[in-house]
Amino acid sequence: MSPAKTPARTSWEPVAEWYAEWVGDTGSFQHRQVTIPAVLELLALRRGEQVLDIGAGPGLLAPAVARAGAHYTGVDASPKLLTVARRRHGRSGRFLHADVLTLPQVSENRAGSFDAAVFLRSIQDMDPLPDVLRCMAWALRGGGRVVMIMTHPCFRVPRLSGWGWDDRRHMHYRRVDRYLTSLPVPMATAGLGTPATVRYHRPLQEYVNGLAQHGFLVDRLLEIPIDPSPTSGRRVKGERLAMHEFPVFLGLRARKVAP
Ligand SMILES: C[S@@+](CC[C@H](N)C(=O)[O-])C[C@H]1O[C@@H](n2cnc3c(N)ncnc32)[C@H](O)[C@@H]1O
Repeated sequence: MSPAKTPARTSWEPVAEWYAEWVGDTGSFQHRQVTIPAVLELLALRRGEQVLDIGAGPGLLAPAVARAGAHYTGVDASPKLLTVARRRHGRSGRFLHADVLTLPQVSENRAGSFDAAVFLRSIQDMDPLPDVLRCMAWALRGGGRVVMIMTHPCFRVPRLSGWGWDDRRHMHYRRVDRYLTSLPVPMATAGLGTPATVRYHRPLQEYVNGLAQHGFLVDRLLEIPIDPSPTSGRRVKGERLAMHEFPVFLGLRARKVAP
């Protein structure tokens, strides 16, 4: 691979070992039960298609893409995560070390050579969004599609949203303290203590309008709740209802309508 012109940037390199261990070979429970199935549903892969997984991390998506008879390429800015990806899933596809912002400079890549691009829980770790979308658009052919799975930006604003209990109305409610302002948020990583990675909160309009600026039209959304963990007590009914009402994840598919 040709060297990238700018240094790769990812806050995930220092926590790569922890993350690879935490997700294991097949992914976290949420990867297996929720996010990977959602990606596959939105992608609707056909045999022989070329798929680019941007922010591939330890390569969890590769086996599912290979099973669908499509060709998988994962790119990531973290060398340590790519070492894990190649060791665990190298038989299912190829993995390239690159910052998303340097995709057009990677010699293995050609403009318009991919049928589909995926951001599996990675778009909120990348910045600035307009440049990320421009580089993704460069890689996709006209008519190709991009699929993003992210934590739902309307309900999950890191550190600035949460659950509450309204005793008077006997309701479990979702509280959102900030929404329209785009923010970088330092994230504490379970078990590692101090804030380790950086998540970029953006309102939904930044994704939809940013995609449109690069010739993409959104044609499908999935707003995905997760099953509540079993609880007991007088609030259980309200908690269950709220977990079904407020999606944790947003899946978005957009088509490249401009050439
Ligand atoms: C939350 S992890 C998700 C990894 C993987 N998709 C998964 O679901 O296991 C976000 C990933 O995005 C990668 N990433 C962040 N910024 C990047 C950039 N500028 N270019 C390429 N990859 C980047 C990180 O290295 C990390 O592997």
